[in-house]
Amino acid sequence: MNAFVKIKKYKTIKRKIVCLTAYSRPIGKILDKYCDIILVGDSVATAFYGMKNTKEIDLDTMINHGKSVGKSVKKSILVFDMPFNTYNNLKDAKKNVKNVLNKTKCHAVKLESNGKNFNILNNLVKSGIKVMGHIGYTPQYKKKFSPQGFKPNEVKKLINEAKKIEQAGAFAIVLECVHFKLAKKITDSIKIPTIGIGSSHYCDGQILVLDDLLGLSGFYPKFVKKYLNLEKLINVAVKRFKKDILIKKFPNSSNTY
Ligand code: KIV
Repeated sequence: MNAFVKIKKYKTIKRKIVCLTAYSRPIGKILDKYCDIILVGDSVATAFYGMKNTKEIDLDTMINHGKSVGKSVKKSILVFDMPFNTYNNLKDAKKNVKNVLNKTKCHAVKLESNGKNFNILNNLVKSGIKVMGHIGYTPQYKKKFSPQGFKPNEVKKLINEAKKIEQAGAFAIVLECVHFKLAKKITDSIKIPTIGIGSSHYCDGQILVLDDLLGLSGFYPKFVKKYLNLEKLINVAVKRFKKDILIKKFPNSSNTY
């Protein structure tokens, strides 16, 4: 079964959809065994490059990460997160999305919603491109972090936005930091899967930034569950490496030509 058909079916049979971010080939290879969707996220800007926010990353840098991950992903849906300012109008969106799909092995792109770009999404879909939407806290368009859907006017606006994205032809929607009651309402009122990040178990699937769950990013808001303390493990390994060099234990004869 086609992977896009599969995740739609998962929503109807209530099998949760598993998604994570990847920025490199070795990580893509591991995640491909467990994920339904792998996202080459623009979170690479902050998690990998240490930039101030995700708006700073450019398309060519993202494409390099897309190429790298694309080398190892064989079964999951590989989604490319279109960076800020690359889909402001239909002409730019078409040109940049085609560039991404030609240069990487990504199967789909993700566009953050600014509450107005449904037509761009719809036109990409009409030209045969698979598109994922993204609503709620959308870092490319919001000045400051804040969970969404707490005020009555936000509730109406977000339900409307989700419906418009579904009508425009998206195959799924990320809900970022959306109040749990609203996440449930949206999930129940559309036929395409909702993928939550900080948006409760009511969503059809979940996504996290891998570096956060591995304990490597130093960024642990409430919605992140840290499954590993990789920072600590790397410290242990590097400390041992240093010690071995200082006491002349490394390299030994087995490490030498
Ligand atoms: O860039 C990213 O990693 C994302 C996820 C947080 C959904 O957009």
